[in-house]
Amino acid sequence: MEVVMGVNRLFEKVYRQMYRAVQVHGLFATFQLAAEKLRRASGAAGSPTVSAFDEKWNVQTDGNEDLSELQVIDRTNYLLGNRYQPTAPEMFDKIIQAYPLPYEECIFIDCGSGKGRVLLLASELPFRRIIGVEFASDLTIIAETNIKAFHIPTQKCWILEAVCADATIFPFPVEPTVLYMANPFEGVVMEKFLSHVENSLREYPRTFFVLYRNPKYASLWDNSKYFLKVCSTEEFAVYKNVI
Ligand SMILES: C[S@@+](CC[C@H](N)C(=O)[O-])C[C@H]1O[C@@H](n2cnc3c(N)ncnc32)[C@H](O)[C@@H]1O
Repeated sequence: MEVVMGVNRLFEKVYRQMYRAVQVHGLFATFQLAAEKLRRASGAAGSPTVSAFDEKWNVQTDGNEDLSELQVIDRTNYLLGNRYQPTAPEMFDKIIQAYPLPYEECIFIDCGSGKGRVLLLASELPFRRIIGVEFASDLTIIAETNIKAFHIPTQKCWILEAVCADATIFPFPVEPTVLYMANPFEGVVMEKFLSHVENSLREYPRTFFVLYRNPKYASLWDNSKYFLKVCSTEEFAVYKNVI
C-alpha cells in the first residue's frame, strides 16, 4: 500500500513539473530539459559537480533547480518564474564593467537572487549595501549561509542581506540603485515587475540602473519612458533611468 502511495506521489510530482515546464518553456524545450536532467542523473554530464567559485570560497551557489522542487512563498507568479541557475563570475564581471556605475553612491539589488552568488560577487565592489530578493525560501536560506561564509580579502561591501519576497511587490529602498536580474521571470510577470519599478521611480525619482542578463524581454524596457538603454549585447542589456 505504501509503495503504491509513493509511486502515486512520484507521478504527481513529475506531472506537476512537466505541466509547469510546458507552460513556461514550450513542449520542445521541455523535452530538451528532461533529456538534460536524465543525462545529469545518469552521471553522463561532463561538467564538474562543484564550480571553481564554490570550491575556492567554500560556498554553495551551484545548481540548476526547478521551481517545482522548491518552497515558493508566494505562488502568484510561480508559473512564470524561471528556474535557479547562477550567473557565471566571468559573465557578471563583463556586465558590471560594461558601463561606468557610481558604486559608492548606490545600493545593489539582485531580483531573483537564488543562492546569492551575484550578491557575493557584487560585494567585491564598494556598494553601500547589497540586497538579494528571492521568492524560494529554501534558496534564500542557502544564500544567508553563503553570505555568512563569504569572507575574502578583496571584499569591499560587508552589508549583505537575502530577503525572501516576490520581486514584483518588494518595496524598493528609496536610494540610488543598481538593480541586477538574470532573466528571473517571463512575460506578464516581467511587465508587472517593470510597472513596479516605474511606480517606485515616479514616486521617488532617483538614480537607477538596471543590469539585465539574458534580456529576453528587453523590448519592454526599451519602450519604457523611464529608461534609456545605454549598452547592450546578445547576452545582456544595461539601462539607466531618465530623471
Ligand atoms: C536564473 S536564476 C538567477 C539567480 C541569480 N540572480 C544569479 O544570477 O546567479 C532566477 C531566480 O529568480 C527567482 N525568481 C523567479 N521568479 C521570482 C519572483 N517573482 N520573485 C523573486 N524571485 C523569483 C528563481 O527562484 C531563481 O532563483
